[in-house]
Amino acid sequence: MAQRGKGKDLVIAIDGPAGAGKSTIARLVAARLGLRYIDTGAMYRALTLKALRSGVDCDDAAGLIELLARSKFEFPVASSPENQAILLDGEDVSAQIRLPEVSQKVSRVAMVPQVRRELVRSQRELAAQGGIVMDGRDIGTVVLPEADIKIFLTASLEERARRRFLELQQKGIPATLDEVKREIAARDKLDAEREVSPLQAAPDAVIIDTTALTPAEVVAQIIHLCCERGEG
Ligand code: DC
Repeated sequence: MAQRGKGKDLVIAIDGPAGAGKSTIARLVAARLGLRYIDTGAMYRALTLKALRSGVDCDDAAGLIELLARSKFEFPVASSPENQAILLDGEDVSAQIRLPEVSQKVSRVAMVPQVRRELVRSQRELAAQGGIVMDGRDIGTVVLPEADIKIFLTASLEERARRRFLELQQKGIPATLDEVKREIAARDKLDAEREVSPLQAAPDAVIIDTTALTPAEVVAQIIHLCCERGEG
């Protein structure tokens, strides 16, 4: 039997601000190591989408909690982590959760303590079997403080906005670079200043500034780290 925390049981936590490259890197690392990939931001986004569809205000904590109690999030087994989808109540909402109206509201939803408590509980359940790369804002600090490897990705605001802008363009979602930059700056502020689990690196996280690095270079650093610790 594999030793806990080694090889296919490995648990990797990747945190960082919007646009730092978390999901790209997490998917690639998961693919390289044959691990599952869970995007926890997608859960906050899916709840935000459901609130927008249901007419529940994103500042209405009681309404959100009630909505969450009636929501089911699933990450179906994917052919590869690159294609990992999220289902909300059985519907694939992977594309809709990236819409600007969701991005604008999601930080408010993620500020509600009871929403966080419930989603953190689900995230721990998803990771309980090990063999996972999980990305978010509080994975190394709150969700999986015992993770084998903790990475905190950063990049300059300009670079993060540029990446998010290109991503939206590729998906045909209209937005200007300036709008994206303002939205990311506003989200950074809310995520860093919220009372419950503000965005911060775990004391034992390895911080990687991805501003001038390609995804392949970042992945190589993480794989190197896993090997160095005898966990690759
Ligand atoms: O990574 P993302 O842009 O998809 O995250 C969407 C929002 O969800 C972001 O504003 C912060 C929040 N979030 C969080 O508070 N905790 C997580 N573990 C993941 C995301």
